[in-house]
Amino acid sequence: MRKRNGACPLCYARTLVTPKERKIPTLYNQESFENGLAKTPPMGWNSWNVFKENINETMLYEMAKAMVDSGLLEAGYNYFNLDDCWEAKERNMKGELVSDPTTFPSGIKALADKVNALGLKLGIYSCNGPLTCQHFPGSQGHEYTDAYTFASWGVEYWKLDYCHNVPYTPYAPLVAGIAVSKVGEKVEKLLSVESGTRYGNAHIFTTKYPKKRYNSTQRFKKHCSGLDAGEGSIEWNVEVENEGEYVLTIYTHELYPKYAKLLGVQINDGELYLINIPKEVYHWQEYITQKLVKLTKGNNKIKLFNPINNKSTSDMLQFQYAGKCIKQATADYAKDNNVEEKPIVFSICEWGSGEPHLWGKSAGNLWRTTGDIYHNWNSIKNLYEHNVELYKYADIGHWNDPDMLEVGVGNFSYNENEAHFALWCMMASPLLLGNDIRAMTPDIVKIITNKHLIAIDQDALGKQAKRIVKGNVDVLVKPLVDGKTAICYFNKTDSTKNYAFEEKLFASEEYVSYNSNGSIIDALSGDNTTLENMLKGEIKARSVKVFII
Ligand code: GLA
Repeated sequence: MRKRNGACPLCYARTLVTPKERKIPTLYNQESFENGLAKTPPMGWNSWNVFKENINETMLYEMAKAMVDSGLLEAGYNYFNLDDCWEAKERNMKGELVSDPTTFPSGIKALADKVNALGLKLGIYSCNGPLTCQHFPGSQGHEYTDAYTFASWGVEYWKLDYCHNVPYTPYAPLVAGIAVSKVGEKVEKLLSVESGTRYGNAHIFTTKYPKKRYNSTQRFKKHCSGLDAGEGSIEWNVEVENEGEYVLTIYTHELYPKYAKLLGVQINDGELYLINIPKEVYHWQEYITQKLVKLTKGNNKIKLFNPINNKSTSDMLQFQYAGKCIKQATADYAKDNNVEEKPIVFSICEWGSGEPHLWGKSAGNLWRTTGDIYHNWNSIKNLYEHNVELYKYADIGHWNDPDMLEVGVGNFSYNENEAHFALWCMMASPLLLGNDIRAMTPDIVKIITNKHLIAIDQDALGKQAKRIVKGNVDVLVKPLVDGKTAICYFNKTDSTKNYAFEEKLFASEEYVSYNSNGSIIDALSGDNTTLENMLKGEIKARSVKVFII
């Protein structure tokens, strides 16, 4: 950001033509979201892909039982997740979400208890908007309350969707000045904008109060504009005697009332606080906001700016906030009730629209990288094509999510089902089944309980496969613990293909520590095989071959 102290027309003109840098990763704290969960990609079942709005507590309990009886829990599928449509249309008087009284009359806590008794963990869904995608009450603006409610029900996984999302505004109010005072003491010393340092587009103007009655109360003669969209900021240096909590009072004005404004406050380049200025503020009437902030002994830098320079930043800050609420709520619930804290896996369902791979790790455990999956082959291929490129962003506790599985849904062939499952395992994706567990064919059970593929997905190194050949037959490699490597050939086409690769392709790839001395397992059959079979063979249409070496 360019410093701009004093007016220099040439400097200002230059700021208009200089391309704006991308500021997302450096704007402020990008600490990793840690809750000790999802050390390997979450596995389980979700109600959406097959059942949509047709869910109720009786049928879901049958499904949970079938998960255990069919051996899926034993194979590792331990999250049992409700998707949209479990809610009542209205919150209760306390502002809490409640379950639909016609389909979930016993409430979600009762279902969680029953599901827990089977050895499964209950997951839930809501939305980062005023409504969910199916128009039930959304969680935007209720993040902490909803997280606390879920914690009180014993929920252990929260998918937060993105329909109807109201982004943070990139507009900042006009700032007239600030004051810093001790808690419990009267606000005395005012700091005008002239005593601050301006950066980027920040300018000072003389305030022309249009109404006499405002003149009589005005504290400040000037104001600072140009703090919008991360393009300008104003900073003050404030000395305090002792480290501790102080009251920061901010005086603002409205030039364009009827639009909400947002102001970011950052102290000593640390945590970012956001202050919403409501749209009802009157034209040029002073609007005062206050925030408790932590200051350190001696000099402190107080910076005001609007950090929303694009959609990604708004999404990042909103999902980070929800993640914070979840952690705070599970801790508070445990403390309030003297029970052990049950942390909640945070699944960000932002559809990849605001590049969540760049910031998801700082907000939650997994983030959807794509739009919704459908049970047709093109959908599987398209989601794969997008997600496979993002391999660098997956890590222990933080996963790219190319959406839930369609294995056993619709009329995929055996090979298509198997390829879809294997590709998701190679990409260290969450394995959330979406099929009717009560009515699975032996073929589907075989695919989704393939212990070699599951081991590839759940490998403790936490690496997503890298595509090293892109073509009709893609080649993926995934490093595994103990120096092992998983190799996958994926024939995307509609006809059988022959493949032949030289061993040096794998040996020279730095992403894996390929070593051909050990045994080679064909992960689909479970049989041992030879190096020759691994390097050369025939692969059917819309199929994979997977080897562990
Ligand atoms: C969105 C999500 C889906 C599902 C539906 C429910 O489309 O991306 O995964 O949760 O909403 O309405």
